[in-house]
Amino acid sequence: MKIGVTGATGQLGRLVVEKLKERITSEIIVALVRSPQKAKYLDVEAREFDYSKPGNLADALKGIDNLLLISSNEMGQRVSQHINVIKAAKEAGVKWIVYTSLLHADTSSLSLAGEHLETEVELKKSGLMYTLLRNGWYTENYTGSVKGAIAGGAFLGSAGDGKISSAIRSDYAEAATVVITGKNHVGKIYELAGDEAYTLTDLAAEISKQTGKSIPYRNLPENEYASILKSFGMPEGYANAIAGWDISASKGDLFDNTHQLSKLIGRPTTSLTVAVKNALAITK
Ligand SMILES: NC(=O)c1ccc[n+]([C@@H]2O[C@H](COP(=O)([O-])OP(=O)(O)OC[C@H]3O[C@@H](n4cnc5c(N)ncnc54)[C@H](OP(=O)(O)O)[C@@H]3O)[C@@H](O)[C@H]2O)c1
Repeated sequence: MKIGVTGATGQLGRLVVEKLKERITSEIIVALVRSPQKAKYLDVEAREFDYSKPGNLADALKGIDNLLLISSNEMGQRVSQHINVIKAAKEAGVKWIVYTSLLHADTSSLSLAGEHLETEVELKKSGLMYTLLRNGWYTENYTGSVKGAIAGGAFLGSAGDGKISSAIRSDYAEAATVVITGKNHVGKIYELAGDEAYTLTDLAAEISKQTGKSIPYRNLPENEYASILKSFGMPEGYANAIAGWDISASKGDLFDNTHQLSKLIGRPTTSLTVAVKNALAITK
């Protein structure tokens, strides 16, 4: 039995491999990556695997029973890329695909939801066994801005009073590990999110508390926030997308209180206090 992990050199994927190695023998883990050279530090078998090169995928999947398909980060191309993987998995005899989708992908107003939902439909149509890990927001999406907030004297966003039940990547990676090595998960859809819901005002207050500086949250209209992100050098499409995701957050699309993530990993999710502490340690 072999377990394959796509995107294993990405930020989530490398955490999954690390955590898998704590649970199962390294010999049965296969990192499916664009660059096996880049994957050497993972210290597991690495096979070349590019979602956009359908000709090579089935060969790379030979002998793999359980496949964790970590969604691609190439927005706009993801449906065709994921279809390539699903088709190759069928051809190669993969039994079960666990796919990292998006929280409430079927109802979310996030612009990201469509590609995830289409992938979910393709998986269901494929006839393969599947499990959907509908991952909520990464806390790092926000704590990554801590340094900028300290420099600018305010935390900027457009999320209003929207409650955000994010979790750190490591918690989602643990859930993926529990599922792909576990039993009784086939056919299930997990809505995964942090135990603690916070607003960006709460986040700014936590940063203020931990730094001893006054860092208020400044809520901005969507276009103003996008313009500021562009002025920092962010590409226009990405800046607009980030501002738009905050608008979805303001409508509650990043909120969930079902605690399915902590139930899966068997412990509370990492707190906002710890996540901010980690982010501040990185900025030092
Ligand atoms: N829930 C959230 O808040 C959130 C936020 C951001 C992203 N996401 C989604 O979650 C996924 C994992 O997150 P992450 O933080 O680990 O993202 P990441 O660090 O950007 O990693 C993405 C991974 O996808 C791989 N990849 C991209 N295009 C590929 C292709 N054509 N063929 C094969 N592999 C390809 C990358 O390979 P290389 O290592 O070779 O570059 C990388 O390993 C993302 O890809 C995205 O779909 C979720």
